[in-house]
Amino acid sequence: MIVLGIETSCDETSAAVVQDGSLLCNIVYTQDIHAEYGGVVPEVASREHDIHINTVVNTAMKKSQIKFNDLDAIAVTYGPGLMGTLMVGLNYAKGLSIGLDIPFIGVNHMEGHLFANLIDNPGFTYPFLCLLVSGGHTQIWQVNKFGDYQKISNTRDDAAGEAFDKGARILGLGYPGGPQIEKHARNGDPKKFPFTIPRIKNAELDFSFSGLKTAILYTCKRMEDQEIKNELPHLCASYQEVIIDTLIDRVKKSIAATGIMSIAIAGGVAANSRFREKMKIMADNSGIKTFFPKMEYCTDNAAMIAIAGYERLRNGETSSLDLKPIPNLSLDDSIYV
Ligand code: KG4
Ligand code: ZN
Repeated sequence: MIVLGIETSCDETSAAVVQDGSLLCNIVYTQDIHAEYGGVVPEVASREHDIHINTVVNTAMKKSQIKFNDLDAIAVTYGPGLMGTLMVGLNYAKGLSIGLDIPFIGVNHMEGHLFANLIDNPGFTYPFLCLLVSGGHTQIWQVNKFGDYQKISNTRDDAAGEAFDKGARILGLGYPGGPQIEKHARNGDPKKFPFTIPRIKNAELDFSFSGLKTAILYTCKRMEDQEIKNELPHLCASYQEVIIDTLIDRVKKSIAATGIMSIAIAGGVAANSRFREKMKIMADNSGIKTFFPKMEYCTDNAAMIAIAGYERLRNGETSSLDLKPIPNLSLDDSIYV
């Protein structure tokens, strides 16, 4: 079975081809234009998708050496994401599916992130935990099998990726903030600034990151511009460390609460090297199995959409042409046990 995957939920225009569960090709066009605005501008993003989607899809097909007539289905993200950008991908996929007379499958972007882990680790055994940690989500799920998900914890306010982005903005760094903070943190002392994240009473597994951005804002307000520049590596390292330590703390507690000893990490923040390193040390020391997707499958890409679409197709699922984009779609909405 050959599935073409399309992803346009935010600022990456991406297409990928999967054959019988194996990835043939993944093309990602990142819309760098948003960096000059300090964040994603929805209208600009939709226009960029519209301009590039055809080239991106054709390149993915060409590199995979697959003909359009050989495709069995088109998988496309229908949420969560930006209404306008989702619409571009969804309409393109619908048009292609009508033209080729093959089914299309609406894929939940978060399910895509989750199963990005399948691309390189096909030997998953269920159940496992999954930390979904992206620009809009910070959640831990228990995955009983494909399509059977139970939420263990959630953020009460900002997502971890959002904390990276907002922190970077306060420090005058570019967008997206995660890679910027990671880069500057490399030569910094993670203990120099005592940032902390509060525990949530009676919800020990949940996350809260909004106080952290206030803490760095007030720390910077007390400093001269030159001092911020001099201290930038230490500010970044201390800020990054507290986010990472919080993620690891909640992972440990979720493992203790469920007794499930394997965890997959998914979403953009999974690309953070310091996080990968500290998770590995924690896991090795406590006999926990940890899975991270390859770097290129952590941030938004169509490989994960094609893989999740392939799994859905294998389970006999296709979508109606009436399917609409759902900007606030949750992983709960994709349960089909
Ligand atoms: O999964 P993703 O590409 O898009 C969403 O679905 O949100 O995640 C984007 C988020 C951004 O907030 C970005 O700052 C963060 O992932 N991110 C990182 C790193 N690379 C991307 N955060 C920390 N360290 C990184 N290396
Ligand atoms: Zn994403």
